[in-house]
Amino acid sequence: MKDKLICSCERVYESTIREAVENGATSFDDLQKTTGLGRSCGNCRPLIERIIRDCGSLSDGAVK
Ligand code: FES
Repeated sequence: MKDKLICSCERVYESTIREAVENGATSFDDLQKTTGLGRSCGNCRPLIERIIRDCGSLSDGAVK
């Protein structure tokens, strides 16, 4: 799978964000603390929130 650069200011990739979510991050603030993303322009925020939702719906086994 090709990794996507999500936060270009801090050079944080999608795989890093997914890993942090799997390790218990549940919000943008959590991810900011653990990965250092989103400290500059904030343009990545909507994308990151989507990844959090995405991972959440996968990990809690919700039926679609
Ligand atoms: S792209 Fe994430 S802070 Fe700028």
